[in-house]
Amino acid sequence: MRTQVAIIGGGPSGLLLAQLLHRHGIDSVVLERKTKDYVLSRIRAGVLEQGLVQLMEQAGCADRLRSKGHVHDGTLIAYGDTMFRLDFTDLTGTPVIVYGQTEVTRDLYAAREAAGGPIEFEVEDVTIHDADTDRPHVTYNVGGAARRIDCDFIAGCDGFHGVSRQAIPLTIRREYEKVYPFGWLGVLSETPPVNPELIYANSPRGFALCSMRSDTLSRYYIQCSLSDKPEDWTDAAFWQELKRRIPPDQAERLVTGPSIEKSIAPLRSFVTEPMRWGRLFLCGDAAHIVPPTGAKGLNTAASDVHYLFTGLRQFYDTGATDGIDSYSAKALARVWKVERFSWWFSSLMHRYPDQSDFDLRIQIAELEFLRTNRAAQQAMAENYVGLPY
Ligand code: APR
Ligand code: PHB
Repeated sequence: MRTQVAIIGGGPSGLLLAQLLHRHGIDSVVLERKTKDYVLSRIRAGVLEQGLVQLMEQAGCADRLRSKGHVHDGTLIAYGDTMFRLDFTDLTGTPVIVYGQTEVTRDLYAAREAAGGPIEFEVEDVTIHDADTDRPHVTYNVGGAARRIDCDFIAGCDGFHGVSRQAIPLTIRREYEKVYPFGWLGVLSETPPVNPELIYANSPRGFALCSMRSDTLSRYYIQCSLSDKPEDWTDAAFWQELKRRIPPDQAERLVTGPSIEKSIAPLRSFVTEPMRWGRLFLCGDAAHIVPPTGAKGLNTAASDVHYLFTGLRQFYDTGATDGIDSYSAKALARVWKVERFSWWFSSLMHRYPDQSDFDLRIQIAELEFLRTNRAAQQAMAENYVGLPY
């Protein structure tokens, strides 16, 4: 088989890139290790920056997002007996859209299928060849048959556990990592959200987050120990702990119900450099991970896709390579700022096992400053709604 861009990974990064390329007349083949149902069963964050919404628009995939997504003009931050609101629209002129990543992925699959764009599911042993030459190719197995795709470029959109990053030699690749000493226990429940806007709570018992997917579907998280297992937490224990970590009037109002999904995610910050090697480009979780505080994972994948699409489009339109040549530097400049924000917001909101009384006082001072200082609020809000591409 021959295509212009071989895309490894059928998560949101790979599918968004495929759809943008398709709309510009550039062919691609998407290779996905799992089934579509499996990809769509993964529950991820649900806050979209304007940049991602515009890319979905450009990809022709924004109709459902526009009709079913909720515009959020602000968020609440609670600590001690205090709760305050950050008004994103007032501070930055921009709201965020609450719409699940699973739905984004579903919309992208629908568009890919409507366009008749090739996707191979359940592929095995995907291997990248000759990425450092002008004639790269990818080999893989599907249903017991060996296949080969010759292409101009390879987009490594295969997530943190994919093969693309590993294809870059260790003499060139440099990785940066920070692992946090706690996880997030998340519950999805068919209950109305406790509050129309998200609540981020720093409590002495640990962090809690009240989020949502719709008026009838809530998503809640609590900071938990890394040794905890989801089955250690009954629904009753989860609700009780959540109530203890959010302001009392919110706890009183909280509607509980059976969980329809319960999972634990570790928190990690990770960046690999460079994001390009020859004709291989890394996008999204393949190149970087952020802790979920602030919901930057999918949004940062989207900015990578934007830079890569812009470079590829320029190459196919004019033959110029400056867009693809500057891809890694441009993507990484934004990635590191998002890494900083996600790390900062995580540090602000969680209890750390080794935190001293001094550290706790600093955390409270920082929250107080954020509550009372418009410049600090503006810096927070600009990062939350999404830095410009
Ligand atoms: N071959 C083919 N496909 C692969 C391989 C492989 N060797 N390894 C992984 N994949 C697939 C995975 O099954 C997954 O569907 O690549 C896809 C990667 O998708 P994600 O992990 O969702 O990563 P990405 O598309 O970059 O999405 C960005 O934002 O909120 C965050 O982590 C969250 O998924 C999210 C991400
Ligand atoms: C979510 O709804 O899953 C979510 C929202 C905001 C975050 C993280 C996760 O900061």
